[in-house]
Amino acid sequence: MTDLRRFGEWALITGGTSGIGEAVAERLAARGFNLVLVARRAAELERCATALRAQHAVEVRTRALDVTQADFLSELTSLTDTLDIGVVIACAGGGDLDAFTDRPLANHVAVLQLNATASVVLLHHFARRFQGRSNRGAIMLFGSTMGLHGIPYGATYSAAKAAVIALGEAVNAELKDAGVYVTVVSPGPTATPLVVQNPDADLMSLPIKPMAVGAVADEALKALMRNEPHHVVGRLNRFMGNLVGRRILSRRASVGLWGALLKKALRPSASGALRPM
Ligand SMILES: NC(=O)c1ccc[n+]([C@@H]2O[C@H](COP(=O)([O-])OP(=O)(O)OC[C@H]3O[C@@H](n4cnc5c(N)ncnc54)[C@H](OP(=O)(O)O)[C@@H]3O)[C@@H](O)[C@H]2O)c1
Repeated sequence: MTDLRRFGEWALITGGTSGIGEAVAERLAARGFNLVLVARRAAELERCATALRAQHAVEVRTRALDVTQADFLSELTSLTDTLDIGVVIACAGGGDLDAFTDRPLANHVAVLQLNATASVVLLHHFARRFQGRSNRGAIMLFGSTMGLHGIPYGATYSAAKAAVIALGEAVNAELKDAGVYVTVVSPGPTATPLVVQNPDADLMSLPIKPMAVGAVADEALKALMRNEPHHVVGRLNRFMGNLVGRRILSRRASVGLWGALLKKALRPSASGALRPM
């Protein structure tokens, strides 16, 4: 396993103020990385930065940015171009759960922008930058077990995560010889606000117990240190993922099973409501 510190002094984390991103930020700060944290809410950025500076005596810079905005990269690079960024964690993500036709098109497009387009933009910028410098760098993208096949009532989110998995796997192979690390991490249900306080569905009622964020963050960082192209987090999630496509659980059966589970978990307010995200 590679010591990530060999890549640089600084780590950039989008979505570093909550859930898995916050846990990864804490672990990188504990290893001595200075951090650039990106999320939309300035107050949450300040809360996290203050705690990390106090606990780990590292430098933390923040930028309130929406990564679905077309010009987000130019705002971000004005902050990161002068820093020795060695690790990038593209963790900002999320989506809504509902019948596909019950949500306005704008929601579906926003889910693609947040999860897929922003990953392409960050990967393209930092992979090129890392390729052109001697100490290279490492980039972590976020897929999901929901990207392993289509998930009814989460159709666009699962499509976006499938795109991220394919993107990272492909670019990992392209950059392997250049020494630039690219790993897609696919967690299953994890105890973050996205799951515990999901406004669309009672995800805590699903038969799979969410993993703790700390365990997910630790496993994700190990996968990056090994430059794994794609890592499904958690033994149970890997077991379930490996069953799909086999005789015991066909892809179609798994789509049907997850569709039935999510349909049951949807909150009444989610169904038929043309709500913004
Ligand atoms: N939790 C799970 O069960 C699970 C399972 C599989 C995959 N994942 C993936 O893992 C990643 C982290 O998930 P999580 O559950 O830890 O998320 P979370 O707790 O909901 O946190 C999301 C983070 O992303 C930021 N963010 C959201 N939209 C943004 C935007 N448009 N621009 C910039 N920042 C934005 C949020 O801050 P602001 O709101 O202030 O912007 C927050 O810091 C995501 O990519 C998610 O899809 C999660």
